[in-house]
Amino acid sequence: SQLNNFDMIIFGATGDLSMRKLLPCLYQAHAAGLLHPKGRILGVSRSALDTAQFLAKVESDSKIHVKKNFTDELWNSFIQRIQYLTVDVNTPEHFGQLSELVKARTETDNVIIYLSTAPKFFAPACKNLADVGLNADNVRIVLEKPLGTDLVSSQEINTDVAQYFQENQIYRIDHYLGKESLQNVLPLRFGNVFFEQVWNKDFVKSVQITIAEQLGVEERGEFYDITGALRDMVQNHLMQMLCFVAMEKPKSLGADDVRDEKLKVVAALKPMTSADVDKNVIRAQYTDSGSLKGYLQENNVPADSRTETYVAIRAEIDTPRWAGVPFYLRTGKRLAARSAEIVLNFKEQENGLFGANPNRLVISLQPDETISLKLYVKQVGSGLDVQPAEMVLDMGKVSDDRRAEAYELLLREVIDGRLGLFNRRDELEKAWEWVMPILDNWAVSPIKPYGYAANSWGPKEAQDLLARDGNAWLEDQ
Ligand code: BG6
Repeated sequence: SQLNNFDMIIFGATGDLSMRKLLPCLYQAHAAGLLHPKGRILGVSRSALDTAQFLAKVESDSKIHVKKNFTDELWNSFIQRIQYLTVDVNTPEHFGQLSELVKARTETDNVIIYLSTAPKFFAPACKNLADVGLNADNVRIVLEKPLGTDLVSSQEINTDVAQYFQENQIYRIDHYLGKESLQNVLPLRFGNVFFEQVWNKDFVKSVQITIAEQLGVEERGEFYDITGALRDMVQNHLMQMLCFVAMEKPKSLGADDVRDEKLKVVAALKPMTSADVDKNVIRAQYTDSGSLKGYLQENNVPADSRTETYVAIRAEIDTPRWAGVPFYLRTGKRLAARSAEIVLNFKEQENGLFGANPNRLVISLQPDETISLKLYVKQVGSGLDVQPAEMVLDMGKVSDDRRAEAYELLLREVIDGRLGLFNRRDELEKAWEWVMPILDNWAVSPIKPYGYAANSWGPKEAQDLLARDGNAWLEDQ
């Protein structure tokens, strides 16, 4: 059904995210007939452009990213929604013009301000918005990652924004929360009778959560080298996946009930000492292999960089449900395949009539969205010997409905004012708190990052991390 009317102001409208994701995703929602006919998109940035010039840029830089459902007619009606205004975040007069443009609309309900800029612009932008009244109750603000580079800087950003906006006006994006198959973990667990009974330390031997990428750092060397995999992926995306897998049943599906339970998971992650980090965290960099460059040879990466392009962590969650169960988290660039998946390895059966037969559940978010359950079934022929078999549910075949990209789903949630798929301040800061000992250890550690060949599954040390517990990564099982 159709979404509320809206006025969406995109700061950083000429930037990469806006051109590659935000506008194409808004186009998809438009093409599907989901956007209110009067919904407006107001691009703003420092560049001195008028609407026609901005639209020319959209035509050349954004349209190519519309990969599906394109027709000239729909595109032409979509761009009718778009206007442009030059706004320098440090120039108060520009905000006066912005607020006039917003208030000139008869329907000013649902004003959405999407800050798709570097976080250093958040504070001045919020102050100037508040000064012209663009922080009233009908205004929502969307914050793009990275929200800080450590606990302190993340607290600073949140404190700055909180001076002008209430927590329930703030939508902190983690695009993994827009992925269908991650959201599906909750109905899978709590909407079926099968899983919840065995979703605990009595039955689960270990949990693995992986986001593997095939690409290297590409043209982002400068950004990536001051970021690294822990900040880029673990503190946010992997943490969200972990929360959905590990959380207790929320009281309701209301935004705060779900976020309360996520917060409890992050807060229950066992804190690591520096010695724990040495033992339980593996950092590594890809080395050259064949025609592929190693990380240290990439553009804008210093030859002596210690930034990790891969990280694997053995974590534990101190709750009655999970005490003692290892959670292995890993992510890396230039790995053998692109995938994002959650694996529950169940315990071996004691005195099983048919053998030890450990079951396994794999929830795959990408490239394909599938749920696979490893079962043991009778071998064909005489006798009752068993063999493993995989029961696979292909989510793409469950419904013919269009599956939206993560950003589109999240933008639709913002337009309709649902906060459940956005991070609350406390969860985010708790996640930073947990990763801090790792960052602190690495900053002074004499242990250099290990190497792994581009196109491999990561360093040998990450295999050893699991072997120690008698476990193995999915590809080695
Ligand atoms: C982004 C990271 O947040 O997520 C990128 O900054 C990474 O480095 C990307 O490539 C991965 O997202 P997805 O949806 O392609 O798995």
